[in-house]
Amino acid sequence: MKKIIITIDGPAASGKGRIAKYISKKWKYKHLDSGVLYRRLAHKLIKKHIYYQDFIKIKKYIKQLKDISFRPNKRLRTEIISKMASKIAIYEFVRDFINKSQKKFIRENLKHSHFVVDGRDIGSVVFKNASLKLYIDVNEKNRAKRRYKQLIDTGEKSIYPQILKDIKLRDKKDKNRKQSPLVIPKGAMIINNNNSFDETKDQIDKLMCDL
Ligand code: DC
Repeated sequence: MKKIIITIDGPAASGKGRIAKYISKKWKYKHLDSGVLYRRLAHKLIKKHIYYQDFIKIKKYIKQLKDISFRPNKRLRTEIISKMASKIAIYEFVRDFINKSQKKFIRENLKHSHFVVDGRDIGSVVFKNASLKLYIDVNEKNRAKRRYKQLIDTGEKSIYPQILKDIKLRDKKDKNRKQSPLVIPKGAMIINNNNSFDETKDQIDKLMCDL
């Protein structure tokens, strides 16, 4: 049976993860969250007191890293890690390392399972030939409200105007960076995730039925 890869791209806090989990659970796809890889690397660098500007040290650190774990962890979702992840994501050598890890993981596991992979450049760069590409569209105010609630729920102190400002800044970084900027991938279906999740599920279900 032909194994399928579905890609999900979209800006910060657009609900990519929730949509990927929905597909993963309902259609038994394995879920790979590429943001986890950027966040885990960011966390490791913070622990080593390596600053994002010090790309020579980051390069050296990556060279001795054999692999990076794909395991999701709620503790990687703090604002400090989010900011560091978006800063190191501008480096081509960081993206190369993470893209190679993703491709290797999928190559080794695609025989056994379909995959849904979410991130910022998955349909546009990493898996250009995916069977279905989705791009998640949500306005920035809705995204800020959702991220604020997420942070409050996980016990982090949080101020809504600051979250909105951070989201705008991260969008700017994600969309304007030279390496693999966030774009709507060629051939992607746009999912409107501004309203209830039931409405989002309807859009997804229709596309999945046509696969
Ligand atoms: O999706 P996320 O918020 O967990 O991603 C964390 C950061 O990693 C985000 O600021 C941008 C970066 N990222 C990326 O550049 N490319 C990806 N495929 C996934 C994440």
